[in-house]
Amino acid sequence: MKILVTGGAGFIGSNVVDLYIESGHSVVVVDNLIMGNIKNINKKAKFYKVDIRDKEIFNIIKKEKIEVINHHAAQISVPDSVNDPFSDADININGTLNLLNCAIKNKVKRFIFISSGGTVYGEPEKLPAKEDFKIAPENPYGISKVAGENYVKFFCKQYNMKYVILRYSNVYGPRQIPHGEAGVVAIFIKKILNGEQPVIFGKGKCIRDYIYVGDVAEANLICLKRGDNSEFNIGTGKPTSVNELFEIIKKVTGFKKEALQGPFRKGDILANYLDIKKAKEILKWVPKISLIEGIKQTYNYFLKEER
Ligand SMILES: NC(=O)c1ccc[n+]([C@@H]2O[C@H](COP(=O)([O-])OP(=O)(O)OC[C@H]3O[C@@H](n4cnc5c(N)ncnc54)[C@H](O)[C@@H]3O)[C@@H](O)[C@H]2O)c1
Repeated sequence: MKILVTGGAGFIGSNVVDLYIESGHSVVVVDNLIMGNIKNINKKAKFYKVDIRDKEIFNIIKKEKIEVINHHAAQISVPDSVNDPFSDADININGTLNLLNCAIKNKVKRFIFISSGGTVYGEPEKLPAKEDFKIAPENPYGISKVAGENYVKFFCKQYNMKYVILRYSNVYGPRQIPHGEAGVVAIFIKKILNGEQPVIFGKGKCIRDYIYVGDVAEANLICLKRGDNSEFNIGTGKPTSVNELFEIIKKVTGFKKEALQGPFRKGDILANYLDIKKAKEILKWVPKISLIEGIKQTYNYFLKEER
């Protein structure tokens, strides 16, 4: 298939591109490199340094005869979305609208939209969160992801294009950017490699669902053929506290010191993990990499990067 991956120079998108190419597909990457790294882009992919909001997207889809759009490009920081909701909405809503509009005009067959299981449900009343739970985002990033989902559904119904929506939990693995406030696994490992003590906020009690990027890429591969016109949680279904995560990272890296303690961060959701029964049943997808194995692979990646 001929697939356009937006955000294909970023952490998750580039891992998806690699698996698509390994599986024999032909891939075009669109990324403005605001966060992504050109080094991440698979040599066999064709690359356009273009913003997803640009009119040029139409010509790229047409010229490359794109059959499937896999849309990973986004503003991904929750704090940045709170500080500047306009910019978040411009990238995440207008960018998605531009892609949808160009897709239907070029008769693209399938649109895979990446959403966030960690934010669209807000602080869920019950856990694990299921796809049919109340949609109640509590920050502009979550709001823009929900808007994106709704526009995808509208365009696809109206103009007869198939879609799949994937709602990820907390993704970790090689190429994650160890900056900012997300990406706790990459941040902890980088600190340890620099001989510094990681900081744990709110006594380490926050619960998350950590999914390895290789398993996420696998779900994107399956969705080229399955999951028509539906949304799926993509996570492990297992709750892990930050303290438990830190213990595993200590075990893998041999780090002996304790973490520093910081206050609970306002706006952080206390607990979230995802129910993945629907993805197991319909996509026939199951996560294969255990947390300890995934942390080992991530640590080895950052070790190599250091050299
Ligand atoms: N990392 C997670 O745990 C997680 C969880 C849930 C959902 N997601 C979603 O997965 C997707 C990928 O996230 P990631 O963690 O790989 O982030 P990332 O920042 O590594 O990747 C995003 C990519 O999009 C590109 N980009 C940003 N704005 C752009 C624009 N206007 N035009 C073109 N390119 C642009 C960036 O340069 C970057 O390469 C995002 O849609 C994000 O919301 C991520």
